[in-house]
Formats: sequence, C-alpha cells, structure tokens
Amino acid sequence: MEFEVRENCLEIDFEEVITIYLNIGWGKRRSIYSAARLKKAFTQSSFVVAAFLAGRLVGWGRALSDGVANTWIVEVVVDPDCQRKGLGRRLVEAIEKRYSHTAIWAETYLPTKTFGEKCGLKARDGMVVISRGPQAHSP
Ligand SMILES: CC(C)(COP(=O)(O)OP(=O)(O)OC[C@H]1O[C@@H](n2cnc3c(N)ncnc32)[C@H](O)[C@@H]1OP(=O)(O)O)[C@@H](O)C(=O)NCCC(=O)NCCS
Repeated sequence: MEFEVRENCLEIDFEEVITIYLNIGWGKRRSIYSAARLKKAFTQSSFVVAAFLAGRLVGWGRALSDGVANTWIVEVVVDPDCQRKGLGRRLVEAIEKRYSHTAIWAETYLPTKTFGEKCGLKARDGMVVISRGPQAHSP
C-alpha cells in the first residue's frame, strides 16, 4: 500500500474521521460526533499529520506542544484496513521529528502499549495517568 503522509494537514473530510473512529471501535453511533467540533479540535492542535490512500483518509496523528520542552501525542489512529503496515509508526515519527527538541509524552491503553514501545516510547517508573472527563459543554 502506497500511503501519502501530509504534515500540517487540515484538508480533511471530518466525516471520514468519524467513520474511522467508529471503525476502530471508539464510539458506537455516528451521532456522538460532530464534524464541526472535530474540525475545531484538529485546527487547534499544534500539529496534525494525516495519511491518505488513493485520496482517502486512512489515518492521522495529532500533537499538542508548548514548542519548548514538552509535546503530548493526543492520538494516533489508523483505519483497521491499513493497520500493521508501518503507518502508525510513520505518523509517530512525523510528530517526533517535528518536536525532536522536546520530550514526547503519550497516554495509551495497555493493548497499544507495545505499539508505543516499538515507536521508542517507554513506560516511566512511578508515573500514572490522572484525569477527569469534561464537566461542561465546550463553547
Ligand atoms: C495503535 C495503532 C495506531 C497502530 O497503527 P499501525 O499502523 O497498525 O502500527 P504499525 O504498523 O506502524 O506498527 C508499528 C509496530 O508496532 C506493532 N504494533 C502495532 N499495533 C500493535 C498492537 N495493537 N499490539 C502489539 N504491537 C502492535 C507492530 O507490529 C509494529 O512492530 P514491528 O515494527 O516489530 O513490526 C492502530 O492500531 C490504531 O489506530 N489503533 C486504534 C487507536 C489507538 O489505540 N491509538 C493509540 C493510542 S492514541
């Protein structure tokens, strides 16, 4: 498969983003997503790298960075049809290259920990993730 990887890419059909979220099992119904909200989230990310196959969106990575010391990988997503072909690693590498002067952080569920490790990220001793969900609608 010949993937085209585009950096700083916002020419994205956000209906395709929703389709891929559903394909990977992040949500059961299309109606939980809003293309307009997703567009805002992507636009407000520090860096977006997107991958296409014959013009169709098949994956992306998003990062938030302070540009100086720390960068957080928000998500790396690859459509199931295109997984295990090295694309996820290419997306992480694009983020790492853009922010090679900062530390890179990512939260992951256990099933994808190995993927992160293969991309050179390591579990940090003594660190845990703490969080809470949203408590109000976004403006
Ligand atoms: C995680 C994800 C991005 C991986 O994408 P991918 O394109 O399949 O990954 P790659 O093909 O680049 O894999 C890179 C390496 O990680 C390994 N790997 C990928 N997914 C793995 C998994 N679920 N379990 C164990 N190893 C995995 C690959 O075998 C490969 O190892 P190798 O170099 O020794 O061959 C993809 O499975 C996905 O989109 N999952 C759903 C979303 C998600 O959980 N994202 C991660 C957190 S934001």
